[in-house]
Amino acid sequence: MSAMTTNDILKLSLGNGLPASDALSVTGIGVDEDTWRFLTVFADTTRLIRLLSRVDEYLDREGPDAGHTPDICLVDFDRNRRAAAMAAERIHSGNPGTAVFAISAQSQPDAILEAMRSGCSEYLSKPIQREQLVNALARIGSRRKEKKEQGDAHVIAFIGSKGGCGVTTLVTQMGAILANSYSRKTMVVDLHPDFGDAALYLKLNKPRYHFFELCENTHRLDADFLQGFLMQHSSGLDLIPAPEGSDATCELPPGAISQTFDFLRPRYEFILVDLPVGLNEKNLELIRCCDQLYLVTVAEVSAIRNVVRQTEYFTRSDIPREKIQVVLNRHQKRNLIDDAQIEKAIQQKIHWRVPNHYPQVVKTIHEGDPVAQLGNSEVGRSLKEWAGMIGKKSGTDEKKKDSGFLGRWNR
Ligand SMILES: Nc1ncnc2c1ncn2[C@@H]1O[C@H](COP(=O)(O)OP(=O)(O)OP(=O)(O)O)[C@@H](O)[C@H]1O
Ligand SMILES: [Mg+2]
Repeated sequence: MSAMTTNDILKLSLGNGLPASDALSVTGIGVDEDTWRFLTVFADTTRLIRLLSRVDEYLDREGPDAGHTPDICLVDFDRNRRAAAMAAERIHSGNPGTAVFAISAQSQPDAILEAMRSGCSEYLSKPIQREQLVNALARIGSRRKEKKEQGDAHVIAFIGSKGGCGVTTLVTQMGAILANSYSRKTMVVDLHPDFGDAALYLKLNKPRYHFFELCENTHRLDADFLQGFLMQHSSGLDLIPAPEGSDATCELPPGAISQTFDFLRPRYEFILVDLPVGLNEKNLELIRCCDQLYLVTVAEVSAIRNVVRQTEYFTRSDIPREKIQVVLNRHQKRNLIDDAQIEKAIQQKIHWRVPNHYPQVVKTIHEGDPVAQLGNSEVGRSLKEWAGMIGKKSGTDEKKKDSGFLGRWNR
């Protein structure tokens, strides 16, 4: 590829004309003299990047340049690989908007893997080749442009206060309704490390890849790569499934989940996440990066007690209280514990009640088509009403084919 062509690609990614303000800002950590000189010439001649600063030491605490969030931080791994990996990890988790590039003279797979695991999205071999750099910049540029143009999905996580509260039922049905009745571009992500049910509830068979494999490949994320992970439901909903068995004991680098969601967000209007019950790091990482957390419970003593415990835990973990709302599933007027008692125990209002109707829910799961059940099912109607509220809250206009009562209500 000629220099002209690669520059053109990048210009297209960044926007035509490439005013100086559109050049990607770059800082360097531990970058050697020769490489920095090359970057300075590259910046001057192409105006595709703007060099901000270079520090020689790997940083102890903060990101690249307190107060400045560059588009790209280049970390040279050759002086001290361990310190470089730690610096990359800190920058990556503390500055999600900054892409971290590793540069190194070593090109063994182990060295590359180490850098990727510490959050680097690109690995540039020394001496840096102009084309290699341009291609890496083009990927960052096109992500930035896509983000600007498409806006961000509303990421909504659902977690049960204990197993079997109905999380997968609500996520899959809500997802299908948003996609079909409200024409929202919607995705469900099943974050169970094993035995996830979302694909089964949507009657989608034989998943090829699962979500954690996507997270392990953050350096390869692009639209084509994502395509291989998607399962499409007849409602228009996309699903990234959980592993089929229990083979996902994978250790993800810190930040891999939020980095994957950063990539998914511009591509959807809604992303619903089916979380396994549990107070673990993966759940916390996702809950930190989501916009809304629905704590799904039922009117049973142990489930209500867990709502209180989970809420305390999330608050201690600095999750803003207003992010969490409680959903009471399998609701019926004659529950042994009534709504007032529940609200007193959890010290907040119940956000939404989904009626209890086992035969309807089981039929929907069996047929894998929540949308077909909407009209004639009490649960379907409740979910459609709730989905309408969520659609409205997102701030986007209703794009409906639906002229029924919900259509009018949601105007
Ligand atoms: N509103 C409802 N009315 C009646 N039954 C329901 C309702 N919602 C869910 N169920 C039933 O509850 C059972 C558990 O539902 P589901 O698998 O969705 O729960 P879960 O929280 O995802 O469970 P797990 O912890 O195993 O992931 C299913 O048999 C489902 O049919
Ligand atoms: Mg489930």
